[in-house]
Amino acid sequence: MLIVGAGSVGRRHAKNLAAEGCRISAVDPRGDRLRQITKELRVEGCFETIEQGLHVAARDLQGVVIGSPTAYHVPQCIQALDAGIAVLLEKPVAPDLAATQQLTAAVANAKAPLLLGYTWRWWPPLAQVRALLADNAIGAVRHVRFVMAAHLADWHPWERYQDFFMAHAEQGGGALLDESHWIDLAVWLFGMPETVSARIERLSDLDISSDDNVDILLGYPHGLRVSLHLDLFARPHERTIRFSGEKGTILWTANPNRVAVAHDADGTWQETNYTCERNDMFVAVAREFLSVARGAAKPSCTIADGERVLRVIEAARASHGTGAVVRLA
Ligand SMILES: NC(=O)c1ccc[n+]([C@@H]2O[C@H](COP(=O)([O-])OP(=O)(O)OC[C@H]3O[C@@H](n4cnc5c(N)ncnc54)[C@H](O)[C@@H]3O)[C@@H](O)[C@H]2O)c1
Repeated sequence: MLIVGAGSVGRRHAKNLAAEGCRISAVDPRGDRLRQITKELRVEGCFETIEQGLHVAARDLQGVVIGSPTAYHVPQCIQALDAGIAVLLEKPVAPDLAATQQLTAAVANAKAPLLLGYTWRWWPPLAQVRALLADNAIGAVRHVRFVMAAHLADWHPWERYQDFFMAHAEQGGGALLDESHWIDLAVWLFGMPETVSARIERLSDLDISSDDNVDILLGYPHGLRVSLHLDLFARPHERTIRFSGEKGTILWTANPNRVAVAHDADGTWQETNYTCERNDMFVAVAREFLSVARGAAKPSCTIADGERVLRVIEAARASHGTGAVVRLA
């Protein structure tokens, strides 16, 4: 397995894939990152570029994991697919829709598959929420409120946040792109919206060139509205989704790790508490990737899913630019 980007998510995938029995090589332009990964696990080859990694290791590779900053995702995926090697691509696909569509075309012509890592899809409590909605547990859903709020300086305590790619718009950082997990979940749960309106701003004192505050309103037919608030400055952190239906409410919270359902005005919650840990969803993704790479399974999260997210993102940008509500075709 070739891990491209030996940073936070790349090292996590490397450890999980090594635990599944894979041999690991790594690519990173930073020598300190390569030294760190070789201290943490047995690494067969270390390379500064993906070209070198593919050149040396391609014949033996089961797959390539793209965990570099978002701006590099598409060219690196295309190089791996051109070499006929299966790809696990970290989200989001790319900084914009045009680059995403370039990859969609490459995947359509490739001999190897691509699995996209919108990893919260593999989170058991959210799978339960999806099942509850499919069972009509709260009747017709009218309003959903996503909140993802976490101060950027807390994300990677081992480095200055200004040095993290998230601080840099040109590397694909920012709340809109990086927290597009929640846009993906909205589409996963309810399909594509009809309309999008948004504000995408930098409001805080953070020393960054990327956006840090995003408010999106998605309009669906049949009387459903979905609001998403994403920010990079809140403390304490919050990851919650509240679904209000005609017959009750579902409340998902990451912390506490819980799904709660209530049907009455007083809020008598039926709670299901979970013990799963964050790494579990990455382990589940790694296992699916190994099946996909062997040809034993089809990817459950695809480039088409990634393209849908980028369509919403581009509509949000257009809405912010004009102040108008954007209608998706
Ligand atoms: N699924 C998830 O929940 C999840 C979690 C974290 C990160 N991610 C995604 O993973 C990607 C990386 O995020 P991170 O937090 O690991 O960032 P990071 O900064 O910790 O790691 C990125 C690494 O890529 C290296 N790099 C820079 N340019 C490169 C290049 N051209 N080729 C190869 N490597 C290069 C950097 O030196 C760094 O070590 C982002 O797209 C992010 O959105 C997803």
